[in-house]
Amino acid sequence: MDFKIAVLPGDGIGPEISVQGVDVMSAVCEKFGHNVEYRYSLCGADAIDKVGDPFPEATYQDCLWADAVLFSAVGDPKFDNDPSAKVRPEQGLLAMRKKLGLYANIRPVETFECLLHMSPLRREVVEGADFVCIRELTGGMYFGEKLEGTERAFDTNAYTRAEVERILHVAYSYARRRRKHITVVDKANVLASSRLWRHVAKEIAPQYPDVETDYMYVDNAAMRMIQDPRFFDVMVTENTFGDILTDEGSVISGSMGLLPSASTGEKTPVFEPIHGSWPQAKGKNIANPLAQILSVAMLFEYFDLTEEGNLIRRAVNAALDANVRTPEIQVPGGDTYGTREVGRWIVNWIREN
Ligand code: IPM
Ligand code: MN
Repeated sequence: MDFKIAVLPGDGIGPEISVQGVDVMSAVCEKFGHNVEYRYSLCGADAIDKVGDPFPEATYQDCLWADAVLFSAVGDPKFDNDPSAKVRPEQGLLAMRKKLGLYANIRPVETFECLLHMSPLRREVVEGADFVCIRELTGGMYFGEKLEGTERAFDTNAYTRAEVERILHVAYSYARRRRKHITVVDKANVLASSRLWRHVAKEIAPQYPDVETDYMYVDNAAMRMIQDPRFFDVMVTENTFGDILTDEGSVISGSMGLLPSASTGEKTPVFEPIHGSWPQAKGKNIANPLAQILSVAMLFEYFDLTEEGNLIRRAVNAALDANVRTPEIQVPGGDTYGTREVGRWIVNWIREN
């Protein structure tokens, strides 16, 4: 296949992990005889500093040119401490989601056997947990009508039937490829928008008789996720609930530096780590590149190139097993590997295996 990839390194540790993702992408393409061409584009605080816009038109055009976007992270503390800032890096992310129509955010929660001891939950609770949260990404409170006053403010949690239908179909297609169990997470005991979700889900469920459908209130789901994470296979929910639940999910595995995600929809899909830009670690060569590298695995899998994706997953497991790990997950007394060293080790493993 000929790949055109838009690379958006962004801020903080973004550029460092981006390099590792690109190198892995190139190594896999070389091995399997795919051609790959990259275009590097600005986003986030970096883009605000350089051109005054966190998701510039030129970046959007590069994304449209590409078959896939390899995104790293955005965010810079200089904006967090300035509530009056007119533009923020996060707006770039939201603009990208909206303009590319990325309505389905796929966030897998997996555990790694050798890192189970790092989870804040007991081993016997998390062992074998393996689920995916399908978060609706272009609707709800993030994008609904807003009023921002000093005496009164609101964000509207609006959803249309069409928006709910399409995300449910995505979730069912995942469930069919997995353990055939869906949990629709909502707050239908209180919210009108959630009642629409549940109504639509009850209509759609019979189209997937091979999949078992559960309905769960979001508060209960938040509890169940840490009490019994193995209960879940595919969870589908609206934008805000999904934002909160996926942060909760990301700690189950013990390290946020390991989880990739995909956002797909109407235009070019985007692959990115779940973690943020970790500004304090910028330039220190200590950030874990594995989430970015696993995002490249998700990229290949999106194009049904499962062998390519699988090779990357095996390389990541091999690095973990060989204790080639960045400091936050290194075993006591283990050697120190930086972002670059872990990336290089994985690239070599891919070449040799
Ligand atoms: C995420 C992030 C974003 C969100 C922020 C940075 C706007 O938390 O991708 O989960 O809230 O969606
Ligand atoms: Mn979030």
